[in-house]
Parts: sequence; C-alpha cells; structure tokens
Amino acid sequence: MELTTLLARMKLDYLEAGLDSLCEQAAARDMDYKTFLSTALATEWQGRHQRGIQARLRQARLPWIKTVDQFDFDFQPSIDRRQVRELAGLGFVERAGNVVILGPPGVGKTHLAVALGVKAVEAGYSVLFLTLESLMSRLTRARAENRLERALQQLTYPKLLILDEIGYLPLTREDASLFFRLLVRRYERASLIVTSNKGFIDWGEIFGDHVLATAILDRLLHHASTLNIKGDSFRLKEKRRAGLLGRATPSAPPASQELHDPSARQLDPLSQLDRPADTGHSH
Ligand SMILES: Nc1ncnc2c1ncn2[C@@H]1O[C@H](COP(=O)(O)OP(=O)(O)OP(=O)(O)O)[C@@H](O)[C@H]1O
Ligand SMILES: [Mg+2]
Repeated sequence: MELTTLLARMKLDYLEAGLDSLCEQAAARDMDYKTFLSTALATEWQGRHQRGIQARLRQARLPWIKTVDQFDFDFQPSIDRRQVRELAGLGFVERAGNVVILGPPGVGKTHLAVALGVKAVEAGYSVLFLTLESLMSRLTRARAENRLERALQQLTYPKLLILDEIGYLPLTREDASLFFRLLVRRYERASLIVTSNKGFIDWGEIFGDHVLATAILDRLLHHASTLNIKGDSFRLKEKRRAGLLGRATPSAPPASQELHDPSARQLDPLSQLDRPADTGHSH
C-alpha cells in the first residue's frame, strides 16, 4: 500500500502533512530508525494535542483569551501573585475546589478567571464559561421546556465552570434556588470559579434570600481560595492614559471606589451570615 494511502487510512493527518519536511530533516540529521519513528509520531501527537486544545477552547466559550502572563500584577498590588501562580498550577481543579474572585469593576476579575480557564483547557480539562445571567436564562428556559434535569446534568460535566458577574443583576428567589441546585450537583465533584463585584455580605440581596445565600456560600467556600482585589479599574487607567479622564491624585479616592467599594466590607465576609469564616486556602 502507498504510504500516503496508509497515513490517510490511519488518519495520521498531521504526519501526512508534515511528511516531506520530516523526511528532509531525517536525511539532514542522519536520524536512526527509532529517532525517526519517534519524531514522526511526535509530529502527529503534537498536532492532535493542539487540535484538542482548540476544540476545548471553542467549547469553553470564553469571551476572549487572556493569560496570566498578560496580567500586570504591579498595577494591582492587592493581588498575591504567588496565590495566582499556585492557582494556575490547577491543583484546585484536581481537588474539585473553587475560586472566588471579588472586586470592583475593571480590576481584572474576568481576566484572571479566563486566564485560569485557558490553563485548564491546555491541561486537558473541559471548561465552560457563563455569565450568571446566561446561566440563569439557560436554566429558566430549560425549566419552562420541562428539561431542567438534563440541563443541570449537562452543567455538571465541565470539570471547571466559570460563572462570571455574580451581583450585577439581582436574582429572584426561584432563580437562586436553581443556582443552589446546580451548586449542590457540582459540590466536591467539579470546580467553580465565580467572580463578583459584591462582597459576601451583599450576597443575601443578590440571591433575594439570606438563608439560601448562606447555604450557597457554605458550599461554595468550603474548599475555596478567595482573591479579594482592591484597587483601581484597569479600564479607567487606560482611559486616563488616553487623556479622557483627569489624572488620579493621591488625595482623591480611586475612581472605582467612588462608585462602589465592595472590598471595604469583605474582610469578614460571613460574619453577618452566621457562619464561621472559611475563606482563603482552606484545603
Ligand atoms: N492588572 C491587569 N493587567 C492587564 N490587564 C488588565 C488588568 N486588569 C484588567 N485588565 C484588562 O482590563 C480589562 C477589564 O478587566 P476585566 O474585564 O477582567 O475586569 P472585571 O474585574 O471583570 O470588571 P467587571 O466587574 O466590570 O466585569 C480587560 O481587558 C482586562 O484584560
Ligand atoms: Mg468582568
């Protein structure tokens, strides 16, 4: 059988595509048989690996791609970069732990969540990114169409689920109980990264019910690392640089805190929810 037919039948697409240059390399470097075979198979494996990453990236539905290396830690000194590097090692995904990223608008919550999502995709995990709003509309639609059970089941498959923007829109009590059901399904089985512009104290309001909010936080924070970002909006920094806003002076409060400062009330997140604090690295 012809080599190209054989490669096509065995679906060794990447090897077929790279065959000529591979043979040239082998001749130029005077490769022995084993080295040649392993280089050939490595070509195929590398191609498949990349294809897997691309497919998982598409399935993850990240809003855009940003990496940990693209994050300017000097701009956001309240973030412990060692903690982020440790999270990027993905031990929390292996342990089905969670990550909670809190902070005012524009401080990089989505950026860091996406960056951890990209790491997880590269490591071979299935990832799904949803805003809380899109999650809720997905679940309420499923319930209306009598397929809630299946929708919940589907949302337990991704090894890492990123739920962005908790707190921007209040939920009804029914929405909150749907959210709770999802959390129960994933608890200690698969990881969540959630981002919120509100401190935990305000979660009772977001979920429209303090008892439910406490039960949600209880599961969410049981095995969780919390990144509490306190600082300026990166978006405003970019605007300022472009001359669209006045310069921030040291005496003036940072622009992001003029609007709302959840971080100021996040020091003892659960104190008002009658639960012992269990945030930070709690494995
Ligand atoms: N420290 C940083 N270094 C580099 N880029 C940053 C940093 N912080 C934020 N950015 C960039 O600024 C933009 C806004 O950040 P991001 O969307 O992550 O903010 P956010 O905290 O999620 O805000 P919001 O609460 O409004 O959703 C993004 O393009 C992000 O990549
Ligand atoms: Mg965001």
